[in-house]
Amino acid sequence: MSSLAELQARALKEIREAADLEGLKRVEQVYLGKKGELRQQLGQLSSLPKEERPAFGKAVNDCKLAISEALEERERELQAAELTARLSGEGFDPTEPGQPFETGTLHPISQITEELVDVFQGLGFSWLDGPEVEFEYYNFDALGIPGDHPARESHDTFWLKDGNVLRTHTSPVQIRAMERFGAPLSVIVPGRCFRNETVDASHEHTFYQMEGLMVGRDISVSHLVYTMKTCLREILKRDIEIRLRPGYFPFVEPGFELDVNCPFCGGIGSPDCKNCKVCKQSGWIEMLPCGMVHPDVLRSGGLDPEEWTGFAFGLGLQRLVMVRYGVNDIRDFTGGDLRFLRQFTRV
Ligand code: PHE
Repeated sequence: MSSLAELQARALKEIREAADLEGLKRVEQVYLGKKGELRQQLGQLSSLPKEERPAFGKAVNDCKLAISEALEERERELQAAELTARLSGEGFDPTEPGQPFETGTLHPISQITEELVDVFQGLGFSWLDGPEVEFEYYNFDALGIPGDHPARESHDTFWLKDGNVLRTHTSPVQIRAMERFGAPLSVIVPGRCFRNETVDASHEHTFYQMEGLMVGRDISVSHLVYTMKTCLREILKRDIEIRLRPGYFPFVEPGFELDVNCPFCGGIGSPDCKNCKVCKQSGWIEMLPCGMVHPDVLRSGGLDPEEWTGFAFGLGLQRLVMVRYGVNDIRDFTGGDLRFLRQFTRV
């Protein structure tokens, strides 16, 4: 065995046997260090005949490469072993699966909003937004509710010092939409509204509505009925019946209260209806107010009521979720109790 081959075999053996990183460093010094064995080998170069020098130089280089590679590999092994030893000393088992992340879920009001937006976009409606701090004009006057109108009293309003209001409903966006986009027009406006109400199981000072407005030529009550039926069927996930009762809102004429047959007992005629606490044996539950847009409201929006007609509705989103899931206290939505919210985890 030539002395180079012998040197390489000896180095590789010592590298394999190095017990720790320090030991490995020492081996490196012995062979590759400034005064290491390979340098000494190179020192012999000048004493060789010229023609043998290139081959010898290459042999020394190959030897150096082999030793370097072996050093690197053993270094990685020793580093990994040291890390494992240290971590297990700390009671950490790197092979154990990690802690799962807790992921949140969309609030049920956001979920129903997304579903409604989906349904209405499918019917050709656009999704609009409006300001939560509103001018008195848009919230009341333009909707046919002037200062002395008794309807203002049913809107327990949060007035701001500057005379503006926290909007009491999403209806002001009806006017904004008509002003901005003209007719024909189909929009929905989901959003947060505020009323200075005493909070109880069915009243909140902060609540969510979705306004709907469709203006066109010859829009009639039948368009309203079709649209509401389609939407409620999709959201309540069952075939439904609806009925209209007269209802009063200054900005619609005629105005209606729209009821659906009770989702809990199935409605009048069903065997469960006799004991139903939800509809109180009436077979119907109140779902939403709606009506045909009042000519004055069209005018406020800059449209000619001789040319255009429309319908509008105001869907209470908490109420819709309550009806869909049988929630009986509106305060649960903002109560922050995660046990309540986790029931609405989507899969
Ligand atoms: N904005 C009304 C309210 O919140 C509801 C409504 C909207 C009624 C549209 C009719 C038409 O009281």
